[in-house]
Amino acid sequence: MTDMAELLLAWYDAEKRAMPWRGIRDPYRTWVSEIMLQQTRVDTVRDYYTRFIAAFPDVFALAEADEADVLKLWEGLGYYSRARNLQKGARQVAERFGGILPSDPSVLASICGIGPYTAGAIAAIAYDVPAAAVDGNVIRVISRFSGIRKDPTVPAVHALIEKTVLSLMDKNRPGDFDQALMDLGATVCVPGTPDCDRCPLRVLCDAYAAGDAQDLPLLPAKAPPKVKPYDVCVIRSGTRVLLRQRTEKLLNGMYVCWMREGHSSAADLQAVLAGQFGTEPLSVTRRESAKHVFTHLVWDMDLYLVTLPPELSAPAGYVFVNADELDRYPVPAAMKAARKLM
Ligand code: ADE
Repeated sequence: MTDMAELLLAWYDAEKRAMPWRGIRDPYRTWVSEIMLQQTRVDTVRDYYTRFIAAFPDVFALAEADEADVLKLWEGLGYYSRARNLQKGARQVAERFGGILPSDPSVLASICGIGPYTAGAIAAIAYDVPAAAVDGNVIRVISRFSGIRKDPTVPAVHALIEKTVLSLMDKNRPGDFDQALMDLGATVCVPGTPDCDRCPLRVLCDAYAAGDAQDLPLLPAKAPPKVKPYDVCVIRSGTRVLLRQRTEKLLNGMYVCWMREGHSSAADLQAVLAGQFGTEPLSVTRRESAKHVFTHLVWDMDLYLVTLPPELSAPAGYVFVNADELDRYPVPAAMKAARKLM
Protein backbone atom coordinates (compact mmCIF):
# COMPACT_ATOMS: atom_id res chain seq x y z
CA MET A 1 0.00 0.00 0.00
CA THR A 2 1.22 3.53 -0.71
CA ASP A 3 1.79 5.93 2.19
CA MET A 4 -0.98 8.05 0.73
CA ALA A 5 -3.49 5.19 0.78
CA GLU A 6 -2.56 4.34 4.35
CA LEU A 7 -3.15 7.91 5.53
CA LEU A 8 -6.33 8.28 3.51
CA LEU A 9 -7.90 5.01 4.64
CA ALA A 10 -7.01 5.63 8.30
CA TRP A 11 -8.82 8.96 8.00
CA TYR A 12 -11.77 7.33 6.23
CA ASP A 13 -12.08 4.59 8.87
CA ALA A 14 -12.32 7.28 11.54
CA GLU A 15 -14.34 9.93 9.69
CA LYS A 16 -16.44 8.26 7.01
CA ARG A 17 -19.94 9.59 6.66
CA ALA A 18 -22.80 7.16 7.28
CA MET A 19 -24.93 6.68 4.16
CA PRO A 20 -27.78 4.22 3.56
CA TRP A 21 -25.96 2.72 0.53
CA ARG A 22 -22.74 2.09 2.43
CA GLY A 23 -21.81 -1.16 4.17
CA ILE A 24 -24.12 -3.22 1.97
CA ARG A 25 -23.08 -5.63 -0.76
CA ASP A 26 -25.69 -5.16 -3.42
CA PRO A 27 -24.42 -3.96 -6.81
CA TYR A 28 -27.93 -2.82 -7.77
CA ARG A 29 -28.11 -0.49 -4.77
CA THR A 30 -24.63 0.82 -5.44
CA TRP A 31 -25.76 1.52 -9.00
CA VAL A 32 -28.90 3.39 -7.93
CA SER A 33 -26.98 5.44 -5.36
CA GLU A 34 -24.20 6.36 -7.77
CA ILE A 35 -26.66 7.50 -10.44
CA MET A 36 -28.54 9.62 -7.88
CA LEU A 37 -25.29 11.07 -6.54
CA GLN A 38 -24.23 12.40 -9.92
CA GLN A 39 -24.94 16.15 -9.81
CA THR A 40 -26.77 15.83 -6.48
CA ARG A 41 -25.61 16.25 -2.89
CA VAL A 42 -25.46 13.33 -0.47
CA ASP A 43 -27.97 14.91 1.94
CA THR A 44 -30.53 15.39 -0.82
CA VAL A 45 -30.08 11.86 -2.13
CA ARG A 46 -30.62 10.00 1.17
CA ASP A 47 -34.44 10.08 1.26
CA TYR A 48 -34.85 9.69 -2.49
CA TYR A 49 -32.62 6.62 -2.40
CA THR A 50 -34.53 5.05 0.50
CA ARG A 51 -37.91 5.59 -1.20
CA PHE A 52 -36.62 4.36 -4.54
CA ILE A 53 -35.16 1.15 -3.11
CA ALA A 54 -38.37 0.51 -1.15
CA ALA A 55 -40.41 0.83 -4.38
CA PHE A 56 -37.94 -0.97 -6.66
CA PRO A 57 -35.87 -3.33 -4.47
CA ASP A 58 -34.09 -5.10 -7.32
CA VAL A 59 -33.24 -4.96 -11.02
CA PHE A 60 -36.41 -6.83 -12.03
CA ALA A 61 -38.73 -4.57 -10.04
CA LEU A 62 -37.22 -1.53 -11.76
CA ALA A 63 -37.18 -3.18 -15.19
CA GLU A 64 -40.90 -3.98 -14.94
CA ALA A 65 -42.04 -0.63 -13.52
CA ASP A 66 -43.97 2.05 -15.43
CA GLU A 67 -41.66 4.84 -16.49
CA ALA A 68 -44.00 7.47 -15.01
CA ASP A 69 -43.74 5.74 -11.59
CA VAL A 70 -39.95 5.83 -11.83
CA LEU A 71 -40.00 9.51 -12.78
CA LYS A 72 -42.45 10.23 -9.96
CA LEU A 73 -39.92 8.91 -7.40
CA TRP A 74 -37.25 11.05 -9.06
CA GLU A 75 -39.43 14.18 -8.95
CA GLY A 76 -37.41 17.11 -7.59
CA LEU A 77 -33.98 15.43 -8.03
CA GLY A 78 -33.58 16.88 -11.53
CA TYR A 79 -31.65 15.48 -14.48
CA TYR A 80 -34.52 13.11 -15.18
CA SER A 81 -32.72 11.40 -18.06
CA ARG A 82 -30.73 9.70 -15.30
CA ALA A 83 -33.91 7.96 -14.13
CA ARG A 84 -35.01 7.03 -17.64
CA ASN A 85 -31.58 5.65 -18.49
CA LEU A 86 -31.35 3.81 -15.18
CA GLN A 87 -34.56 2.01 -16.01
CA LYS A 88 -33.43 1.23 -19.56
CA GLY A 89 -30.21 -0.08 -18.03
CA ALA A 90 -32.18 -2.27 -15.61
CA ARG A 91 -34.08 -3.75 -18.57
CA GLN A 92 -30.76 -4.52 -20.28
CA VAL A 93 -29.34 -6.11 -17.13
CA ALA A 94 -32.49 -8.22 -16.74
CA GLU A 95 -32.33 -9.41 -20.35
CA ARG A 96 -28.61 -9.67 -21.01
CA PHE A 97 -27.19 -10.58 -17.60
CA GLY A 98 -30.05 -12.41 -15.86
CA GLY A 99 -30.51 -9.51 -13.45
CA ILE A 100 -26.92 -9.61 -12.14
CA LEU A 101 -24.77 -6.56 -12.78
CA PRO A 102 -21.41 -7.52 -14.26
CA SER A 103 -18.23 -6.67 -12.32
CA ASP A 104 -15.96 -5.76 -15.22
CA PRO A 105 -15.92 -1.96 -15.69
CA SER A 106 -15.76 -2.21 -19.48
CA VAL A 107 -18.83 -4.49 -19.55
CA LEU A 108 -20.63 -2.25 -17.06
CA ALA A 109 -19.94 0.72 -19.34
CA SER A 110 -21.94 -1.01 -22.11
CA ILE A 111 -25.13 -0.63 -20.03
CA CYS A 112 -27.39 2.34 -20.65
CA GLY A 113 -26.61 5.28 -18.36
CA ILE A 114 -23.36 3.80 -17.02
CA GLY A 115 -20.33 5.86 -18.03
CA PRO A 116 -16.71 5.40 -16.97
CA TYR A 117 -17.28 7.01 -13.56
CA THR A 118 -20.28 4.84 -12.62
CA ALA A 119 -18.66 1.70 -14.07
CA GLY A 120 -15.59 2.26 -11.90
CA ALA A 121 -17.65 3.06 -8.81
CA ILE A 122 -19.86 -0.05 -9.11
CA ALA A 123 -16.90 -2.35 -9.84
CA ALA A 124 -14.85 -1.00 -6.93
CA ILE A 125 -17.58 -0.49 -4.32
CA ALA A 126 -19.74 -3.56 -5.00
CA TYR A 127 -17.12 -6.03 -6.30
CA ASP A 128 -13.74 -4.87 -4.94
CA VAL A 129 -12.36 -4.56 -8.44
CA PRO A 130 -9.42 -2.10 -8.47
CA ALA A 131 -11.05 0.56 -10.64
CA ALA A 132 -10.92 4.35 -10.41
CA ALA A 133 -14.15 6.37 -10.06
CA VAL A 134 -13.21 9.88 -11.06
CA ASP A 135 -15.86 12.49 -10.30
CA GLY A 136 -15.46 16.21 -9.64
CA ASN A 137 -14.37 15.64 -6.04
CA VAL A 138 -11.71 13.14 -7.05
CA ILE A 139 -10.44 15.41 -9.84
CA ARG A 140 -9.96 18.16 -7.28
CA VAL A 141 -8.24 16.01 -4.66
CA ILE A 142 -5.87 14.33 -7.12
CA SER A 143 -5.07 17.53 -9.04
CA ARG A 144 -3.99 19.10 -5.76
CA PHE A 145 -2.33 16.08 -4.22
CA SER A 146 -0.30 15.19 -7.32
CA GLY A 147 0.16 18.75 -8.53
CA ILE A 148 -1.65 18.27 -11.85
CA ARG A 149 -1.80 21.83 -13.17
CA LYS A 150 -3.62 21.13 -16.41
CA ASP A 151 -7.24 21.29 -17.53
CA PRO A 152 -8.89 18.02 -16.36
CA THR A 153 -11.62 18.31 -19.00
CA VAL A 154 -8.94 17.46 -21.59
CA PRO A 155 -9.21 13.66 -22.11
CA ALA A 156 -5.46 13.02 -21.71
CA VAL A 157 -5.45 14.91 -18.38
CA HIS A 158 -8.54 13.03 -17.21
CA ALA A 159 -6.80 9.77 -18.13
CA LEU A 160 -3.74 10.87 -16.16
CA ILE A 161 -5.94 11.47 -13.10
CA GLU A 162 -7.45 7.96 -13.45
CA LYS A 163 -4.00 6.45 -13.76
CA THR A 164 -2.83 8.37 -10.72
CA VAL A 165 -5.80 7.10 -8.64
CA LEU A 166 -4.94 3.52 -9.63
CA SER A 167 -1.28 3.94 -8.81
CA LEU A 168 -2.08 5.34 -5.36
CA MET A 169 -4.92 2.90 -4.55
CA ASP A 170 -4.82 0.21 -1.87
CA LYS A 171 -5.75 -2.74 -4.10
CA ASN A 172 -7.18 -4.59 -1.10
CA ARG A 173 -9.80 -1.86 -0.54
CA PRO A 174 -10.68 -0.28 -3.88
CA GLY A 175 -14.23 0.71 -2.94
CA ASP A 176 -13.17 2.31 0.32
CA PHE A 177 -10.28 4.05 -1.39
CA ASP A 178 -12.53 5.58 -4.08
CA GLN A 179 -15.14 6.65 -1.54
CA ALA A 180 -12.48 8.05 0.79
CA LEU A 181 -11.31 10.32 -2.04
CA MET A 182 -14.92 11.43 -2.62
CA ASP A 183 -15.49 12.12 1.07
CA LEU A 184 -12.23 14.01 1.40
CA GLY A 185 -13.19 16.11 -1.63
CA ALA A 186 -16.68 16.76 -0.27
CA THR A 187 -15.70 17.69 3.30
CA VAL A 188 -12.04 18.81 3.47
CA CYS A 189 -10.48 19.30 0.05
CA VAL A 190 -13.41 21.48 -0.98
CA PRO A 191 -13.60 23.89 -3.95
CA GLY A 192 -12.19 27.34 -3.28
CA THR A 193 -10.29 27.38 -0.03
CA PRO A 194 -9.62 23.84 1.22
CA ASP A 195 -9.40 23.01 4.93
CA CYS A 196 -5.78 21.81 4.80
CA ASP A 197 -5.45 21.92 8.60
CA ARG A 198 -7.82 18.95 8.78
CA CYS A 199 -6.36 17.05 5.84
CA PRO A 200 -4.71 13.68 6.43
CA LEU A 201 -2.76 14.04 3.17
CA ARG A 202 -1.29 17.47 3.82
CA VAL A 203 2.23 16.19 4.49
CA LEU A 204 2.36 14.54 1.06
CA CYS A 205 0.33 17.09 -0.90
CA ASP A 206 2.04 18.83 -3.82
CA ALA A 207 -0.32 21.81 -3.91
CA TYR A 208 -0.10 22.33 -0.13
CA ALA A 209 3.68 22.54 -0.41
CA ALA A 210 3.42 24.87 -3.40
CA GLY A 211 0.68 26.98 -1.78
CA ASP A 212 -1.69 26.87 -4.75
CA ALA A 213 -4.34 24.36 -3.63
CA GLN A 214 -7.06 27.02 -3.89
CA ASP A 215 -6.27 27.48 -7.61
CA LEU A 216 -6.64 23.79 -8.53
CA PRO A 217 -8.02 22.07 -10.50
CA LEU A 218 -7.43 24.32 -13.49
CA LEU A 219 -10.97 24.20 -14.87
CA PRO A 220 -11.88 26.23 -17.97
CA ALA A 221 -14.17 29.22 -17.42
CA LYS A 222 -17.86 28.28 -17.83
CA ALA A 223 -20.07 30.06 -20.32
CA PRO A 224 -23.00 31.73 -18.53
CA PRO A 225 -26.30 29.86 -19.01
CA LYS A 226 -28.65 31.10 -21.76
CA VAL A 227 -31.84 32.76 -20.52
CA LYS A 228 -35.03 31.81 -22.37
CA PRO A 229 -38.31 33.67 -21.79
CA TYR A 230 -41.55 31.67 -21.55
CA ASP A 231 -45.18 32.34 -20.85
CA VAL A 232 -46.47 29.47 -18.73
CA CYS A 233 -50.23 29.03 -18.50
CA VAL A 234 -51.91 27.07 -15.74
CA ILE A 235 -55.02 26.17 -17.68
CA ARG A 236 -58.12 25.06 -15.80
CA SER A 237 -61.29 23.61 -17.19
CA GLY A 238 -63.84 22.76 -14.51
CA THR A 239 -61.96 20.86 -11.79
CA ARG A 240 -59.25 19.82 -14.20
CA VAL A 241 -55.80 21.18 -15.06
CA LEU A 242 -54.07 20.85 -18.42
CA LEU A 243 -50.69 19.09 -18.59
CA ARG A 244 -48.44 17.98 -21.41
CA GLN A 245 -45.96 15.11 -21.23
CA ARG A 246 -42.73 16.41 -22.71
CA THR A 247 -41.10 14.65 -25.63
CA GLU A 248 -38.19 17.09 -25.85
CA LYS A 249 -34.78 15.98 -24.63
CA LEU A 250 -34.90 18.37 -21.67
CA LEU A 251 -37.33 16.98 -19.05
CA ASN A 252 -38.36 14.15 -21.37
CA GLY A 253 -41.33 12.23 -19.95
CA MET A 254 -42.11 14.85 -17.31
CA TYR A 255 -45.44 16.71 -17.20
CA VAL A 256 -45.53 20.49 -17.61
CA CYS A 257 -48.07 23.23 -18.21
CA TRP A 258 -48.96 24.76 -21.54
CA MET A 259 -46.06 27.05 -22.34
CA ARG A 260 -44.85 29.21 -25.19
CA GLU A 261 -41.50 30.80 -25.85
CA GLY A 262 -41.36 34.57 -25.41
CA HIS A 263 -43.22 37.06 -23.22
CA SER A 264 -46.49 38.44 -24.46
CA SER A 265 -49.55 40.12 -23.03
CA ALA A 266 -52.65 38.51 -21.53
CA ALA A 267 -54.57 39.75 -24.58
CA ASP A 268 -52.14 38.01 -26.99
CA LEU A 269 -52.38 34.80 -24.99
CA GLN A 270 -56.16 35.05 -24.97
CA ALA A 271 -56.13 35.11 -28.78
CA VAL A 272 -53.60 32.27 -29.13
CA LEU A 273 -55.49 30.05 -26.68
CA ALA A 274 -58.84 30.83 -28.34
CA GLY A 275 -57.34 29.61 -31.63
CA GLN A 276 -55.85 26.46 -30.16
CA PHE A 277 -58.90 25.42 -28.09
CA GLY A 278 -61.54 26.63 -30.49
CA THR A 279 -63.24 28.64 -27.75
CA GLU A 280 -62.54 31.91 -25.90
CA PRO A 281 -60.91 31.51 -22.47
CA LEU A 282 -63.21 32.79 -19.70
CA SER A 283 -60.21 34.54 -18.14
CA VAL A 284 -56.46 35.00 -18.62
CA THR A 285 -54.83 36.52 -15.53
CA ARG A 286 -51.21 37.50 -15.18
CA ARG A 287 -49.61 36.07 -12.01
CA GLU A 288 -46.06 36.09 -10.67
CA SER A 289 -42.82 35.49 -12.53
CA ALA A 290 -40.47 32.62 -11.74
CA LYS A 291 -37.03 31.43 -12.78
CA HIS A 292 -35.68 27.93 -13.01
CA VAL A 293 -31.97 27.33 -13.48
CA PHE A 294 -30.83 24.26 -15.43
CA THR A 295 -27.17 23.51 -16.05
CA HIS A 296 -26.80 25.50 -19.28
CA LEU A 297 -30.16 27.20 -19.41
CA VAL A 298 -32.48 29.43 -17.37
CA TRP A 299 -36.23 29.46 -17.89
CA ASP A 300 -37.49 32.99 -17.22
CA MET A 301 -41.22 32.36 -16.82
CA ASP A 302 -44.24 34.67 -16.68
CA LEU A 303 -47.12 32.73 -15.13
CA TYR A 304 -50.74 33.06 -16.17
CA LEU A 305 -53.86 31.53 -14.74
CA VAL A 306 -56.31 30.62 -17.50
CA THR A 307 -59.89 29.45 -17.14
CA LEU A 308 -61.48 27.61 -20.04
CA PRO A 309 -65.09 26.45 -20.19
CA PRO A 310 -65.67 23.10 -18.43
CA GLU A 311 -65.90 19.81 -20.32
CA LEU A 312 -63.54 20.71 -23.14
CA SER A 313 -61.44 17.86 -24.52
CA ALA A 314 -57.65 18.19 -24.42
CA PRO A 315 -55.79 19.00 -27.64
CA ALA A 316 -53.40 16.38 -29.06
CA GLY A 317 -50.41 15.75 -26.79
CA TYR A 318 -52.17 17.21 -23.74
CA VAL A 319 -54.18 15.68 -20.89
CA PHE A 320 -56.72 17.21 -18.54
CA VAL A 321 -55.99 15.90 -15.05
CA ASN A 322 -58.35 16.21 -12.11
CA ALA A 323 -56.87 18.47 -9.45
CA ASP A 324 -56.97 15.68 -6.84
CA GLU A 325 -55.02 13.33 -9.13
CA LEU A 326 -52.18 15.72 -9.97
CA ASP A 327 -49.90 14.10 -7.41
CA ARG A 328 -49.70 10.95 -9.49
CA TYR A 329 -47.96 12.77 -12.32
CA PRO A 330 -44.22 13.51 -12.34
CA VAL A 331 -43.96 17.31 -12.48
CA PRO A 332 -40.46 18.82 -12.54
CA ALA A 333 -39.16 21.41 -10.06
CA ALA A 334 -39.16 23.90 -12.95
CA MET A 335 -42.97 23.94 -12.51
CA LYS A 336 -42.84 24.62 -8.77
CA ALA A 337 -44.37 28.09 -8.98
CA ALA A 338 -46.96 26.95 -11.53
CA ARG A 339 -47.81 23.91 -9.41
CA LYS A 340 -48.95 26.20 -6.60
CA LEU A 341 -51.54 27.74 -8.91
CA MET A 342 -53.02 24.37 -9.97
N1 ADE B 1 -20.50 10.82 -4.49
C1 ADE B 1 -20.78 9.93 -5.44
N2 ADE B 1 -20.71 8.67 -4.99
C2 ADE B 1 -20.36 8.75 -3.69
C3 ADE B 1 -20.13 7.81 -2.67
N3 ADE B 1 -20.24 6.50 -2.92
N4 ADE B 1 -19.78 8.25 -1.47
C4 ADE B 1 -19.68 9.58 -1.26
N5 ADE B 1 -19.88 10.52 -2.15
C5 ADE B 1 -20.23 10.13 -3.37
